[in-house]
Parts: sequence; C-alpha cells; structure tokens
Amino acid sequence: VLYTIIAAIIAYLIGSIPFAIITSRLFKLQDPRQFGSGNPGATNVLRSGHKIAAALTLFGDAFKGWIAVYLAQQYFPHHTTSIAIVAVAVFLGHLYSVFLSFKGGKGVATAIGVLLACDPMLAIILIIIWLLVFLLFRYSSLAALIAALNAPFLYLILSLQDYRFDGSLFVAILLISILLIYRHKANITKLLTGKEAKFSKKASRKK
Ligand code: G3P
Repeated sequence: VLYTIIAAIIAYLIGSIPFAIITSRLFKLQDPRQFGSGNPGATNVLRSGHKIAAALTLFGDAFKGWIAVYLAQQYFPHHTTSIAIVAVAVFLGHLYSVFLSFKGGKGVATAIGVLLACDPMLAIILIIIWLLVFLLFRYSSLAALIAALNAPFLYLILSLQDYRFDGSLFVAILLISILLIYRHKANITKLLTGKEAKFSKKASRKK
C-alpha cells in the first residue's frame, strides 16, 4: 500500500508538468492561459498558430501519461489496482497541476497516453473516433467528448470479448472519462450555444 501511495504521488507530480506552458515559453509564444479558451493544452497552443509547439504539447502531455503507467506496470506487474491508481493520479496531475496552483488542462492528451499504456487497442480506437469526429465537425472538444463518452463502453466490449476485463482498470477509465467530460463543461455550453471555436479546413488538421 505504501509503495502504491508513493507511486501515486510521483505520478501526480509527473502529470502536473504543464507541457503547454513549457513549449509556449520555449517558442516564446503567449501563455495559453491568456488567449483562446485559456486552456493549457495542445488545442489552445495550436490557436497561437504554432503547429510544432502544439504537436510537442500533445506529445509531452500524452507521454507523461504513458510513462507513468508504463513504469507502474514494471514495478507492480499484475497488480492492476496499483496501476489503475497511478493512471488516475497522473491524469489528476494534469487536471489539477501542483505547478499551476491546482489549475490545469482538460486531460485529452494525457488520457490518450494513459490508455496507450493500459489498453493500446482501446486507445487506438478512441484516437480514430476523435479524428473522425474532428474531421466531420472540426471541434476539438466535441471529438474529445464523444471519445470519452465511448471509452468505458468500448473497454467493456473489448475486454469482455477476450476475457481480460479488469475491474480496477474499468473504474480508472470510467473516472478519467467522467473527469474529462466535467473539465469540458465550458466547451459543452459553448457547443450548445454555437459559440465553440471551430478549426477551419485551411487551419491545421491536428488538435
Ligand atoms: O484538448 C482539450 C480540447 O478538448 C478542448 O480545448 O482549448 O478548445 O477548450 P479548448
């Protein structure tokens, strides 16, 4: 139990690293908290027009999710509850970063990284859903919301099919999806009132 608590704290700290802020500083861009949606995430960094910074943010935020879970899998092999706790902890770090006075991002990239480590098949299907919704409607948030809504159900279908269902992992995926949707509440309001910012076809395709 002690080791799991320590691992969760380390994961939380890893998750707290705000790649949107780091890459923006690196490229001398405006702080993403000061324009667009105000969200420190890849989507909003892209609104600065700097695709490389946005891609690095996406990669960094996803990588921290992946590495935290990957390390937990090495330290706690077969101990799925500990791994699930680390998965939620790194995600929470991104949402409520200790380095941003407990503010943070919306968790899309970090969730992708976490899922790539937990269940690569599920992650790939969700990325495809994200891309399809994005290409159809051109809202990064809508794509994330639909992928998050599908995630727990898809995990059930996939894992029950080949007898690898894991209760802890299911709870982690459910929690991550609920938190991710909760963090998009401003986006949901904007989507419903037609005020959400769209990515035009001429602009970059990637979030
Ligand atoms: O990655 C977060 C995305 O789903 C929404 O971001 O900046 O449009 O609120 P944003």
